Amino acid sequence: MIIAMDGPAASGKGTLAKQLAKHYGLGHLDTGALYRAVARDMIASGTALDDEGAAAQTARDIDPETLDDPGLRTPRIAEAAALVARLKGVRKALVDYQRAFAARPGGAVIEGRDIGTVVCPGADVKLFVEASTQVRAQRRHKELTEAGHDITFEEIHAQISARDARDRTRAISPLVPAEDAHLLDTSDLGIEAAFKVAVKLIGTAMR
Ligand code: C5P
Repeated sequence: MIIAMDGPAASGKGTLAKQLAKHYGLGHLDTGALYRAVARDMIASGTALDDEGAAAQTARDIDPETLDDPGLRTPRIAEAAALVARLKGVRKALVDYQRAFAARPGGAVIEGRDIGTVVCPGADVKLFVEASTQVRAQRRHKELTEAGHDITFEEIHAQISARDARDRTRAISPLVPAEDAHLLDTSDLGIEAAFKVAVKLIGTAMR
């Protein structure tokens, strides 16, 4: 079974994806971490973020062992990830990796921005996870301040709004729900409640 999950930053899809993978015994891939890793490695080597050739090579060289790096979870890397994510060569290399992951025996939960539309258009179930910008900024602010980052709610709100606008309007693989995606708005749902709704949607879709 392949479950494709898309949605904007801090919509709750990451937490949900991990829970669903555990519940159904599937592999889990956070594709945002791949784009963040490309950005991290470009910055570390002092390469300009718009150097498409170098970015594509960096994407092909990504070490999957480094995707849990807490250094990926900073606002600076998020911003840089959205810049390299606009480059065709980067997307091609990372989509190849994601499709290989999806083809693993048993299936997977894959989360990102273009999973239901581009990476796995034939997924068994597609969820598009949304939440209001206000709620998403509150969640991300809590997460970052708890991790020790010194950043205001207003700064986070502005960053998330700008990054989403960039992701939704870019030319290649913009963030849009697939036509056959089930919409799940988590603005007023806690983690447990969102999980229950998702399991119900998946159960109905698989029938
Ligand atoms: O999901 P996360 O916030 O970690 O993603 C960071 C950035 O990577 C996104 O803002 C987006 O620009 C890019 N991304 C993408 N396609 C994906 C996953 C992430 O373009 N499938």
